[in-house]
Amino acid sequence: MRADYVGEAIHLRGLVEFSNYCRCNCLYCGLRRENKAVSRYRLQPEELVRTALFAAELGYGTVVLQSGEDLFYTGELLAQIIKEIKAKTNLAITLSVGERTEEEYALWRQAGADRYLIRHETADPALYAALHPQRTQRERVGCLQTLRALGYEVGSGFMVGLPGQSAETLASDLSLLRELDVDMVGIGPFIPSPSTPLAEESGGSFERTVNLVALLRLMLPEANIPATTAMGTLRPNGREIALAAGANVMMPNVTPTRYRPLYEIYPGKICTGEEAGECRLCIEGRIKSIGRTVGQGQGESLKYRKRNAAAGKYA
Ligand code: 5AD
Ligand code: SF4
Ligand code: FES
Repeated sequence: MRADYVGEAIHLRGLVEFSNYCRCNCLYCGLRRENKAVSRYRLQPEELVRTALFAAELGYGTVVLQSGEDLFYTGELLAQIIKEIKAKTNLAITLSVGERTEEEYALWRQAGADRYLIRHETADPALYAALHPQRTQRERVGCLQTLRALGYEVGSGFMVGLPGQSAETLASDLSLLRELDVDMVGIGPFIPSPSTPLAEESGGSFERTVNLVALLRLMLPEANIPATTAMGTLRPNGREIALAAGANVMMPNVTPTRYRPLYEIYPGKICTGEEAGECRLCIEGRIKSIGRTVGQGQGESLKYRKRNAAAGKYA
């Protein structure tokens, strides 16, 4: 199915983790507001732009600008940054900065942002509420719908093996993604993070996550599905196994190396000592080792392309 629908190409996204400040308190995440053990950093706007330009130099067609929910980056400031990157490169820009207002999402879209990643995390509304203080699943799904209506290529996803999650929850995760008709889906095993309330819980199963990647490819054959960093963290060749199960995207890190160890969502995260050029070469070697090819261009999803073609928006 993967070969028939999206072929052998693996699309690369240069990932810039530009701030680990976060106003949220998600129980599972090492960057949660109440985790005082984290030293916080943010790239200044000039450094963020420079890093994105470097991603273009390394040959990436897309950058993912990801951060905690950091309001230092106002709607206007991020819009300026998007415009500057768009003016200087051919990069597709994917944002992953959490829940913001419809006005901000619209401003960023006008500024040139192409895509947005915001995982629904879990389809069980009660579990969602338990894991996300002061947040609701309704708001999260609302964000996904707003982004979609604004013309973004939209990505969601969930964690596998969250405490309190059952097989039924995972089935609901899959049907929610089908309902939302997302263009991109990122999933990964839950990995317990120290200094969080879930530190002593057990983590998600690698094999189960691989099976879910395969199910996602069957259910959403035209979607872009990354082999996520969390998969690579649980097994040295975890990402290659995900690619063999149906994934077609990888997200090598381009964050300046000195900040990488500070973006510790969970422990043992790969690529925290490497430089951007090393990850570039490493990824290419991994892709070639399994007989696949590096995707060219911006690598938008087939799903998104067809949707816009149907709406007459795409040549
Ligand atoms: N283990 C695995 N994934 C996690 N995320 C956050 N904390 C963890 C953890 N402890 C995931 C969430 C979030 C993404 C950026 O990282 O799904 O959306
Ligand atoms: Fe913040 Fe994202 Fe971590 Fe939640 S998962 S605490 S929103 S960085
Ligand atoms: Fe970063 Fe392999 S992808 S070192």
